[in-house]
Amino acid sequence: MEPILDFLGSIPWWGWILIFLLLVALRDIFFQRAHTISHNFPVVGHLRYWLESIGPEMRQYFVANNREELPFNRIERGWIYASAKKENNYEGFGTERDIYAHQHIFVKNAMMAYQMPQGHPNIDNPYFLPCAKVIGGYNKRRKPFRPASIINISAMSFGSLSAAAVTAMNQGVEKCDAYHNTGEGGLSPYHKQGGDVIFHFGTGYFGVRSRDGNFSMDKLKILVDENPAIKGVEIKLSQGAKPGKGGVLPGAKITHEIAEIRGVEVGKDVLSPSTHKAFSSIPELLELIESIAEETGLPVGIKGAIGKLDQWEELADLMKKSGKGPDFITIDGGEGGTGAAPPSFADHVSLPWTYGFSSVYKVFADRGLTERIVFIGSGKLGFPAKAAMAFAMGVDCINVAREAMMSIGCIQAQVCHTNRCPAGVATQSKWLQKGIDVPLKSDRLAQYFKTFRKEFLEITHAAGYEHPCQFTMNDIQLNVDHDYLSSDLEAIYRYKKTQVPFESMQNLYDCVHLGGKPVLKKTS
Ligand SMILES: Cc1cc2nc3c(=O)[nH]c(=O)nc-3n(C[C@H](O)[C@H](O)[C@H](O)COP(=O)(O)O)c2cc1C
Repeated sequence: MEPILDFLGSIPWWGWILIFLLLVALRDIFFQRAHTISHNFPVVGHLRYWLESIGPEMRQYFVANNREELPFNRIERGWIYASAKKENNYEGFGTERDIYAHQHIFVKNAMMAYQMPQGHPNIDNPYFLPCAKVIGGYNKRRKPFRPASIINISAMSFGSLSAAAVTAMNQGVEKCDAYHNTGEGGLSPYHKQGGDVIFHFGTGYFGVRSRDGNFSMDKLKILVDENPAIKGVEIKLSQGAKPGKGGVLPGAKITHEIAEIRGVEVGKDVLSPSTHKAFSSIPELLELIESIAEETGLPVGIKGAIGKLDQWEELADLMKKSGKGPDFITIDGGEGGTGAAPPSFADHVSLPWTYGFSSVYKVFADRGLTERIVFIGSGKLGFPAKAAMAFAMGVDCINVAREAMMSIGCIQAQVCHTNRCPAGVATQSKWLQKGIDVPLKSDRLAQYFKTFRKEFLEITHAAGYEHPCQFTMNDIQLNVDHDYLSSDLEAIYRYKKTQVPFESMQNLYDCVHLGGKPVLKKTS
């Protein structure tokens, strides 16, 4: 034994490296057939795989210019990070964007900006920007709701996001009077931190699921009765990143906690089918909306990504005929995010937000129904100028998902589907989510929303208005090369936005249905 140990001890450090490389080469040539490159080019072939794996980071840090990356470029991410930290989010020396570029958005400023009269609510609270419409007001629901913030958190479940991230988000919305959409995974304890909640369910009916995987009204009623923070219910028809795509939640991921929240069995695969069991036609969908509203008293809405319009037209016709219908409609853009989706879906199925929203809004405007509905938009709208365009097209609120994630530390690593999110936001790894300082991150989310609202109000005032609901299609121009060819939204999308009834900001503040707990004093 001793001579062998002596021999091994006499091998220099570089000898060990050579032995290791020799073993790798033997494995590459004789024992593995899965990778052709490392078989044909033993040892050095591994460099290719390694460089490929660090390529995205290298491009992000060193190569891509400030406006190049997708889904969100460095300038957009930087604006969210700085706004969330209440740091200087200005840029010096003028814009670095090519403002002659195709599709560039111009907000038409007034010759003289809107001047706030003495005692105006926004003098004391420059962040106060509630929704101009009351959700459920038209349909006379028992518990109508006016969102106290025009920017809110879009559907993202506990499961796709970590417990720490969901907690930080819910505490954050409580601090800035916004609402938090639960996403498809049910209402978790992390959603119950004090913020207003919109309960969202899809084809899996998680949290309101009967034993046979159907929708259970009894469970929904109990959930709503026990949780007064729930201000509305959203039925998911589809989302922009994967419309019409079901999913499987693998049994291995179903812990006791997730099983309890979602109402499924521990360790057993759960299927989210691509279609709903609770309805299979537009009249049945309308019936479900009405019965949920009747049983819970809450406003009820639907969320969809847009492709064909025939069923939307059928819904609008039926709403006109019956006088009933959803209290809110969330339109998601094809550019929307997801925890995980096949690229063929994310890249190609459903229209981008502006095309989808304009087509659907027109369907309801043509039938004189827009005043009944609160329109919510989502799809990279969490930037004030983009929101101005969305409001000019007819939205009443926006929902943000990935922008909210970034405000609490997401670095756009784009690995949500792997459970290895380095920022601890989109992972179930206890170790990775320990990095999230919940109180700090909740402040950041609240500050991002507040900064957004303040800047959006400033743009609104520059355009001569008091509230963004007053934006018309003629206030925004999209660049299509020469100024003569640039067109305002009305000419491009060929409809007129219905005027939103609006008296004053004070009037919105005094509304008994106002959510959150906004106060009109100077807030930091
Ligand atoms: C991690 C993650 C999870 C999501 N989960 C859901 C979901 O459960 N239900 C849903 O309708 N949309 C879901 N979405 C889509 C978002 O709610 C939103 O519609 C979309 O990302 C567009 O908003 P954004 O551009 O601000 O991210 C998810 C998005 C992300 C990034």
